[in-house]
Amino acid sequence: MTTSLITGATSGIGAAFARRLGADGHGLVLVARDEQRLAATAADLRQRYGVEVEVLPADLTEDDGIAAVEARLRDRARPVDVLVNNAGAGNRGTFLDVPVADEVRMLRLHCEAVLRLTAAAVGAMRERRYGFVVNVASVAAFMPRGTYGASKAWVVRFTEGVAAEAAGSGVRLLALCPGFVRTEFHARAGMDAGRLPAVAWLDADAVVTACLRDLALRRTVSVPSVRYKLVVALARHVPSRLYAAASTRAGRRFDPKL
Ligand SMILES: NC(=O)c1ccc[n+]([C@@H]2O[C@H](COP(=O)([O-])OP(=O)(O)OC[C@H]3O[C@@H](n4cnc5c(N)ncnc54)[C@H](OP(=O)(O)O)[C@@H]3O)[C@@H](O)[C@H]2O)c1
Repeated sequence: MTTSLITGATSGIGAAFARRLGADGHGLVLVARDEQRLAATAADLRQRYGVEVEVLPADLTEDDGIAAVEARLRDRARPVDVLVNNAGAGNRGTFLDVPVADEVRMLRLHCEAVLRLTAAAVGAMRERRYGFVVNVASVAAFMPRGTYGASKAWVVRFTEGVAAEAAGSGVRLLALCPGFVRTEFHARAGMDAGRLPAVAWLDADAVVTACLRDLALRRTVSVPSVRYKLVVALARHVPSRLYAAASTRAGRRFDPKL
């Protein structure tokens, strides 16, 4: 049986990956911090899809949390075929408003954890000459948008680089770059995203469907929906400083204090 390990599997995009991969018959390993919610999510997935579901509580901003998931990915007796590095979080406000320690924690979650878990998974997958890694980035990767955008730009470049190095090894990697998705992300960060137009929002299940289609097409970057493909195409041609100004204004609108 194929086994998929998903970080941030209890909510939003990660939960949508868990539902889709469970429905496809994959055994699942679910990672997040909240143990009760992990247990409830696992019970629901077992009941719905009849697949094996393990839970692995871990805080991926902590060294021991990352180490626990690395160890699971390196366990040759229980191989993981698909890794979805999805766990992520935002900080409310612009760079100068946010405590530096919170920004460093974000880098740990979006960059260090992704780097270490990818290394652990790809090492084991290459021995078996089979495996897939999906690293969840964002369209924010393509525009100047504080630490969040910079960390997601790192995820895209990192994934493209490792995908090229792994070519021909049987292991494939993809960076998923969604636009705004209706999840708990904005409320958790204390952002007020209520004023965004309906057209800006994507559905988490549709994002996962687009991602898996692009993975099957052997793409290394997936931008779900035509509208966000246009946003990314525009970002490549509009001068960075214009995007930075627009993006900063948008960031301020998310912060009810400003
Ligand atoms: N929503 C959007 O508009 C959007 C757009 C583009 C990209 N993304 C990216 O998509 C990914 C998923 O976000 P989402 O929107 O689905 O968010 P979400 O609904 O808030 O879900 C976040 C998940 O990550 C887990 N998590 C958060 N911090 C963690 C930590 N330190 N260690 C381990 N697990 C942690 C949460 O569970 P616990 O709290 O129990 O740990 C939860 O399962 C993120 O990488 C985000 O940057 C989101």
